[in-house]
Amino acid sequence: MHLRGSMRINDSGHLEIGGCDTVELARRFGTPLYVFDELEIRRRCRSYKEALERYYPHGNIIYAGKAFLTQAMCRIIQDEGMYLDVVSGGELFTALSAGFPAERVFFHGNNKSQEEIAYGIKSGVHRFVVDNLHELEMLNEEATRNATTVDVLIRVAPGVEVDTHSYMRTGQMDSKFGFGIDDGRALEAIRAIRRSSHLRLRGLHAHIGSQIFELESYEMTTRLMVEFIDRLRTDNGVDIEELNMGGGLGIRYSADDTPSTIEAFVETVAGALKVECRSKDLPLPRLYFEPGRSIVGEAGTTLYTIGGSKEIPGVRKYIFVDGGMADNPRVALYQAEYEAMVANKALQAPSDLVTVAGKCCESGDILIWDINLPPCAPGDILAVFATGAYNYSMASNYNRLTRPAAVLVCDGEADLIVRRESFSDLVQHDCIPERLRLLASDCHGLSDTPLRI
Ligand SMILES: Cc1ncc(COP(=O)(O)O)c(C=O)c1O
Repeated sequence: MHLRGSMRINDSGHLEIGGCDTVELARRFGTPLYVFDELEIRRRCRSYKEALERYYPHGNIIYAGKAFLTQAMCRIIQDEGMYLDVVSGGELFTALSAGFPAERVFFHGNNKSQEEIAYGIKSGVHRFVVDNLHELEMLNEEATRNATTVDVLIRVAPGVEVDTHSYMRTGQMDSKFGFGIDDGRALEAIRAIRRSSHLRLRGLHAHIGSQIFELESYEMTTRLMVEFIDRLRTDNGVDIEELNMGGGLGIRYSADDTPSTIEAFVETVAGALKVECRSKDLPLPRLYFEPGRSIVGEAGTTLYTIGGSKEIPGVRKYIFVDGGMADNPRVALYQAEYEAMVANKALQAPSDLVTVAGKCCESGDILIWDINLPPCAPGDILAVFATGAYNYSMASNYNRLTRPAAVLVCDGEADLIVRRESFSDLVQHDCIPERLRLLASDCHGLSDTPLRI
């Protein structure tokens, strides 16, 4: 079994993360439980920073908050001296409420509302990454109203199609994200910025997709971006100071995954950028990377309690856990594959072929198809690996399941970073219109009891 980060098997034969026995964590905090390995998150942040320092000292790392964002996570990113990518007013609020400095925030998103734009400007975010002309108009209006100048990057779709799940491709021409280069839309956006006295073009942004293994696509994207930068300079007299190359580096979910290292990723892009700029006699732009999954994905593990099971003779054996697609929609969404271990039987041979199913009312609510595990019994704790990215952040209350708690583990300490939702949390935003209250009491003589229809 491939153990990640600070994981080890302890003397009780249990899986341990960050010096904490996961069986004990499950008992103390309940399940499902997201467990985050703080040292592993920080190690990955540092790998990015060190690689950038080595291959291209003129740059910064931006953590893509969409992968996993809570106030504690913002504190770690701040502590590591990194920037933060937010894509909504909610993510911006999360960051600011944690004390994260606005001047380290990049504001992304392909459909920012007027309110979100106003919020970003008032907060003083570092850069707006503009996705379309409508946004540009709103940004200009809002900047004018606030008598301020806003620094922007233009998100471009470089026309690169990467080898990943189609839902995770974002750099091709036919994409909802960014301005095309070849069709002239990026240039049109840049001209609009240059006409405004309240917007200042700082640079370009490209994010070609996610869970990418091959680095050639990044080389190609870098080349296309530099060609565009060169054309902007030669034909239009526009200088590009900053280049944000997005995130997307893949991670290991299953044994079939063969991700590149963080260092190789940074070295490839930095190397290509230097070569291309030199060949065109261009000054080197400031370089940003924007990783999410490769920072936090493998640092997260979800613990579940195993409940019942169902053996369909000659077909398959299902084992059921107390979570599922509500806390991890990635299997239903992307046919994602995961590795797992029975945390309280970590030394036992994986002799039974089973399928791990969740408790939601969907046949597609499967966490792992066909995995070998030791014989399982109700009450066993299943640890599913590499669930740190796009799990909590994509979680829902489907079937009115309460969203799990999250803990940060480090050096034998476990701290709650997200409280488990309660049943009252589930109804706290519900409203019963007065006429339905009346209907209930008129028709059925009931007041506080639910309607029976
Ligand atoms: C604009 C942008 N930047 C960065 C990321 C982070 O990507 P990843 O988590 O694959 O590194 C994403 C994710 O889709 C994105 O849309």
